[in-house]
Amino acid sequence: MYRSHNCGELNASNINTEVTLAGWVQKSRDKGFMNWVDLRDRYGITQLIFDESRTDKTVFELAKTLGREFVIQVKGTVIEREAKNKNISTGEIEILVSELTILNTALTPPFTIEDETDGGEDIRMKYRYLDIRRNPVKNSLLFRHKVAMEVRKYLSDLDFCEVETPYLIKSTPEGARDFVVPSRMNEGQFYALPQSPQTFKQLLMVGGMDKYFQIVKCFRDEDLRADRQPEFTQIDCEMAFVEQEDILNVFEGLTRHLLKEIKGIEVDKFPRITYDYAMKTYGNDKPDIRFGMKFGELNEFAQHKEFPVFNTAELVVGIAVPGAGNYTRKEIDGLIDWVKRPQVGASGMVYVKCNEDGTYKSSVDKFYDQDDLTNWAKATEANPGDMIFVLSGPANKTRAQLSALRMELATRLGLRKPEEFAPLWVVDFPLLELDEESGRYHAMHHPFTSPKPEDMALLETEPGKVRANAYDMVLNGNEIGGGSIRIHDKATQQLMFKYLGFTEEEAKAQFGFLMDAFQFGAPPHGGLAFGLDRLVAILGGQETIRDFIAFPKNNSGRDVMIDAPAAIDDAQLKELHIKIDSI
Ligand code: AMO
Repeated sequence: MYRSHNCGELNASNINTEVTLAGWVQKSRDKGFMNWVDLRDRYGITQLIFDESRTDKTVFELAKTLGREFVIQVKGTVIEREAKNKNISTGEIEILVSELTILNTALTPPFTIEDETDGGEDIRMKYRYLDIRRNPVKNSLLFRHKVAMEVRKYLSDLDFCEVETPYLIKSTPEGARDFVVPSRMNEGQFYALPQSPQTFKQLLMVGGMDKYFQIVKCFRDEDLRADRQPEFTQIDCEMAFVEQEDILNVFEGLTRHLLKEIKGIEVDKFPRITYDYAMKTYGNDKPDIRFGMKFGELNEFAQHKEFPVFNTAELVVGIAVPGAGNYTRKEIDGLIDWVKRPQVGASGMVYVKCNEDGTYKSSVDKFYDQDDLTNWAKATEANPGDMIFVLSGPANKTRAQLSALRMELATRLGLRKPEEFAPLWVVDFPLLELDEESGRYHAMHHPFTSPKPEDMALLETEPGKVRANAYDMVLNGNEIGGGSIRIHDKATQQLMFKYLGFTEEEAKAQFGFLMDAFQFGAPPHGGLAFGLDRLVAILGGQETIRDFIAFPKNNSGRDVMIDAPAAIDDAQLKELHIKIDSI
C-alpha cells in the first residue's frame, strides 16, 4: 500500500495516528536541526517534520537531499503543529516522519509549481504535466469533470442514451475546413474527422434511438481564438418527435440544473429574443445581457440637420454608457482612437455628455440643439450622468462596431461580472447567409436545418429573408450551444442542397446516405450541441477555454509539448500513397 491517507484529509482528529503518505515535495525549509517539507498530492498539502532530536539519523540526513518535485513516500505519526496554519485543512497537524523513501528524483522544474507561477504560457504548455500539478489547472480539470458528470446524470435520467459515433468519416459541413486522414487501404482517398456528429445523430433518430447524447470530440480546421480550439468537445444531443419548444425546454432545463448544482444559482426562465432583435439591439447574435447599453437607433432624430456624416449614413446608432458623463477629453479621445483601430474600423465617433442638470453637451452642438439631443437620450435610454456614444455608416458594419465598443466599455466598467449568469435563447436565425465574395448563399447553421414552414415560399424569391427553426443558447456574451429542427424528408433536403449551389450529383455523392435514410421512415427530429469547453470556462468565470482543456493546442494549432503536427517519414508517406514535391 503506497498510502493510507491522501495529503488533504488529515486533521486534529487524526493526532497520534500512524500514517503513510505519498506525493511531491512542494518545498522544504531546512533550519539545520529541524527540516520541514510540504508534501503535495491532488488533494492538498501536508507538512512533514524531520527533527534531529526525534528522527532517525539516516532519515534525517536523507530528508536534506530532497529537492523540489521529488516523489516520496513517508511513514510517520500525526502530531499537533506548533504554528498552526488556518488557511489549509491540514494546517493544525504535521507528520513526524519515521521512514522516508525517495520514489523518484526530479529535475528542477522550469517554473514554480504554485498558484501564482513565474512560468509564461509557452513554457507551461511545453511542460503541461507540471502545469497540471498547479491548483488552478488541476481545479479546472476537476471542475470540468463535475460539469460532465452532471450533464450525464441529468440527460440519462431523462432517458437520453449516450451513443458513440465514428471519428473516421466523410466531411460534415459545419462551416469550417476539415481535418483529413489519408487511407492506406484505399489509395488516394481520405477520411475527414467530424466537425460534429451531425449526420450520425440524425441517422440514430432514423434508427429509432429517440433521445441521444454524446460528450464527443469535434475537429475543425479554423482560425483559433480564446474560445476556439481545433479539437474541442461538444455535448451533442438529438431528439425525435419534437418541436423547437420541446428542445428549448429540455436544454434550458439542463442549463438551469448545471447553474444550480455547480454554481448554486437559480435562474428564471431564459429570455428568448429573435436574431433580428439581437442584431438591432446589441449588434450581435450572442449578446451579453448582464448589463444594458442597448442600442438606440437615431436616424429619425439625427438626419434632419446639416451634419453630412449622419445624413448620408444608412444607420445612426448610439449607446448610453452609465456614469460615463464625467469622462475627460483625453478619455473620450482614447475611445475614439479605440473605435478607429483597424480591428474595429469606425471612421469616427460622436459623443453627448448628459449633464446632471438635464442639459446636454455634445461634439456636434453646431448641428443639433437640446431638443434633438433630448430625443437621442430618450432613444438610448440615457440618464443624467451618462455619456452617449454614436456611430454611423453601413448598418451591419456600424452595428458590429458599436457592439465591440459596448463590450469594451462593459469590460472597462466592470459590468461583465464572472459570478453573474445571464443565459438566453436567440431564435429565428436566418436560414441562409450571403457570402459577399462568392455571391452565393451558405447555410447559416448547417444544410440540414429546416426552414420555417411559413417562410418556405420566400426561398425562390428572397432566400435571405427565410427564417430557420434554429436557435442558439447564449451565456454571458458567448454562444454556448446551437441547434435546429431538421429537415426529415428527401424532397426538402434535395431542394436545400440545390439552393446551396450543390448539383444533384454532388449532393448525392456527399449526402446520398442521409437522403436515402429519409426514405425509410425518418421521424421529425431536432437537437442541439453545447460547446462543453466554453460552457465549463464560463461557469468557471473565464472565457479562455484552453485553461479547461488538459492538453490544449496553442494559437498556431500546435501541441508544443509533443511537438505536433510533425513531418512523417518517407516510408509512411509512401504507404499512404502521398507524394510530396520535395521528396
Ligand atoms: P455548432 O457549429 O453551433 O453546431 O457547434 C455547437 C457548439 O460548439 C461550440 N464550438 C466550439 N467550441 C470550441 N472550439 C471550437 N472551434 C468550436 N466550434 C463550435 C460552440 C457552439 O455553440 N451540429 C451542430 C449542432 C446541432 O445542430 O445540433 C453544431 O455543431 O459552443
